[in-house]
Amino acid sequence: MCGIMGYVGSRPAGPILIDGLGRLEYRGYDSAGIAVLAENGGLSIHKRVGKLETLASAIADRWPNGHEGIGHTRWATHGKPSDINAHPHADCTGDVAVIHNGIVENYLELKTELATAGHSFSSETDTEVIPHLLEHYLGENEELVTALRKTIGRLEGAHAIVVMSRQHPGTLVTARVGNAGGVVIGYGGGENLLASDLPALLPHTRRVVFLNDREVAQVTATRVTYWDSEGRPLEKEPQEIPYDSVSAAKGQHKHFMLKEIMEQPESILDTIRGRAQFDTPAVQLEDIPLSKEQLAKVRRVVFVGMGTSLHAAMIGRHYMERIAGIPAEVDNASEYRYRAPIIGADTLVVSVSQSGETVDTLAAMEEAKRQGALQITICNVAGSQATRIADGVVYTRCGLEIGVCSTKTFTASVTALYLLACYLGQARGLIDKERLGGLLEPLARVPYLAGEVTKREAEFERLAHQFHRYNNFLYLGRGIQLPVAMEGALKLKEVSYIHAEGYPAGEMKHGAIALIDREMPVIAIALKDDMHDKMMSNIEQVKAREGTVIALGSEGDEELAAKADHVIYVPEASPLLSPIFTTIPLQFFSYHIALRRGCDIDQPRNLAKTVTVE
Ligand code: F6R
Repeated sequence: MCGIMGYVGSRPAGPILIDGLGRLEYRGYDSAGIAVLAENGGLSIHKRVGKLETLASAIADRWPNGHEGIGHTRWATHGKPSDINAHPHADCTGDVAVIHNGIVENYLELKTELATAGHSFSSETDTEVIPHLLEHYLGENEELVTALRKTIGRLEGAHAIVVMSRQHPGTLVTARVGNAGGVVIGYGGGENLLASDLPALLPHTRRVVFLNDREVAQVTATRVTYWDSEGRPLEKEPQEIPYDSVSAAKGQHKHFMLKEIMEQPESILDTIRGRAQFDTPAVQLEDIPLSKEQLAKVRRVVFVGMGTSLHAAMIGRHYMERIAGIPAEVDNASEYRYRAPIIGADTLVVSVSQSGETVDTLAAMEEAKRQGALQITICNVAGSQATRIADGVVYTRCGLEIGVCSTKTFTASVTALYLLACYLGQARGLIDKERLGGLLEPLARVPYLAGEVTKREAEFERLAHQFHRYNNFLYLGRGIQLPVAMEGALKLKEVSYIHAEGYPAGEMKHGAIALIDREMPVIAIALKDDMHDKMMSNIEQVKAREGTVIALGSEGDEELAAKADHVIYVPEASPLLSPIFTTIPLQFFSYHIALRRGCDIDQPRNLAKTVTVE
């Protein structure tokens, strides 16, 4: 969850950069850095491992002199937190400084190519390939902005990048690729700024432009110029952010729910950051102080949670069995606590809770504690009660989730559960480096692919408009997609007040099939996985009763397209991670149906964000 800040104008840049990064503090960080270009052409870079205040106090009595600069707070992905690995990163000549949010998925290949061409690298980061690529294109006499456009053409993954160069004083260039964090440009009088999020800009200006996917901008003190990925000029007019702080926090989105759906590529990326090591495959979870011996003793895992968190836990169960090879069960916390469960010292209880304050989940955890089980919680809120009861925590790094109905914390919890299963498999010696590499490689691609799905909002909106008048929906799934079907139905109920059931497709014939007619659309999740044939039969059974089928399927599944009335294709992904890509379209579907029906989306009737009563 990196924070990005840039300034060009007439005021001293250093204090503005540090203040802006401080306003992005909720993003968390393990190191921070700034680069400032002095009027005499000197580029000074200051970087420190640790919190922003470490950097701030290191430069407090010797602020770098200059009126343009860039700043960054880092959460490590490639390379441990250290002074060297902190951003900004420079090229071989020291002319170019870069800050970056994202993962360069093909960095190893690029690093080898650049090293062979004579570039020397000083950090362990994936980011460092960016200044060296820029150096290469600038060496071909390209303009800074063209060099950046060519550079992003070489990078795989999703990125937000800001560049400054000694050879191009008074100019910052920036680009956004995909949805791994945004870039907002703030228009001041005789100065301009940019940041990864609005709060850093609001003390200076309320006139902003949000950069879209694959757009590039050049920012000087008096002018901002935009291009698309082909280098065609774009006209973009700044919008005025209203004074009301709630609207300001929503940015350009109409509702927090929509904003939070859109933030998923970034929150997933942030949940992975610094934990999954891709080059020498390994998973590190920073808040699990359990020894290898303690983890080796675990014979059974019990997952507990409520609502959306319970659905994430159901996916976690698949991970635990298939990745870590540990028998696993999942239970609704409100049932579990009253069931007189048998929990032994060889049981690991994994609770999932966005808030960490849900009363039933806490009660289940207390019971597990009383019976001496080891506990790990997947949680979004630091210091919450769940994190205090558990022996270990895997934080989802979503920032605040304001919409009452959970969206980004669901996909981040699924990501955290995947990491936890890899971690346990690794700690218990069950998965070797090769298998771990095979599990982590598709994980690195998830933020980018999630971004590709969020870009298709208009398609999901059109479908929602065709179906917003129906009053009953059935969601069907099997295996790892069953929790997604249940989560899809829950979202629809919560925000649009439409009756919806999430059901195991195999169970349909045992009762629910009696409900099917033209008035009850069926949403069937039928990816090309080992459940495909079974799901196709279920779809046939629905069609035979004149039901309308909206199917979620794998790209290019013609057979499905021929059977279903509507198909939403999701990206090709590892079957274990595919629930993330089937969930996002269903979130959009619920959102747009609710919008069409005029519901109170961010605060649906009768619901509360955190349920602290039984
Ligand atoms: C669904 C939703 C609720 C929560 C449930 C558990 O959109 O928000 O179903 O998932 O109340 O809350 P946490 O995760 O805070 O324990």
